Amino acid sequence: MPQLAAPKKPSPYRFLREFIQNPFVIGAVAPSSERLAHKMVEGIDLSNAKAVCEFGPGTGAFTGAILKRLPPGCKYFAIELNPTMARIWRERYPGRRLYRRNVKAVAKLCAREGITHLDAIFSGLPWASFPDELQTQTLDAMTQVLRPGGRFVTFGYRVGTILPKGRRFYRRLPQYFSHVERSSYVWRNLPPAFVVRCTR
Ligand SMILES: C[S@@+](CC[C@H](N)C(=O)[O-])C[C@H]1O[C@@H](n2cnc3c(N)ncnc32)[C@H](O)[C@@H]1O
Repeated sequence: MPQLAAPKKPSPYRFLREFIQNPFVIGAVAPSSERLAHKMVEGIDLSNAKAVCEFGPGTGAFTGAILKRLPPGCKYFAIELNPTMARIWRERYPGRRLYRRNVKAVAKLCAREGITHLDAIFSGLPWASFPDELQTQTLDAMTQVLRPGGRFVTFGYRVGTILPKGRRFYRRLPQYFSHVERSSYVWRNLPPAFVVRCTR
């Protein structure tokens, strides 16, 4: 469904408040910047996509950039665990579908949407704060539904690359994807970040 007007940006303090209450699930002190959102979609060809999913959209920093690139008729849904984030996102993107669930349920949610395979998954998840088991369960769940040749796009913070869980996550990606590439840093983001683009 097309957006009729540019959705209003929520206050970053609401994001910070959620981080203070739940640091390991939220994993960031502020929503991502427009620069990072642009980097997330750059070079990802969605012109023939039929189904796309967004993981952990938070307050929707990447959502607008993703929606703008979807061709007519392409199905889209988001999965977000945090109730406050989910409420803000729904206010910002009325008419779009968000499931307030754990992303591990992605296959079940695809079935509910009548989707057999996803063409792309965009992730805002805080991988560097995910325990090993959760990283594996989530990667296993998403590779069940991402079609061969499908794209997985995620991001990480510069500081996350020195954290053991962050390092383990990036080392694990080549086991799941035939091609993995990392972008240059986006300095206009709090904190500075980079994008990882993978092909199944
Ligand atoms: C780092 S924030 C990113 C939010 C947004 N994409 C952005 O860049 O501003 C991570 C988001 O992932 C959500 N999240 C964390 N673990 C999740 C899980 N297992 N399933 C669904 N959402 C999850 C958090 O609630 C939070 O909104």
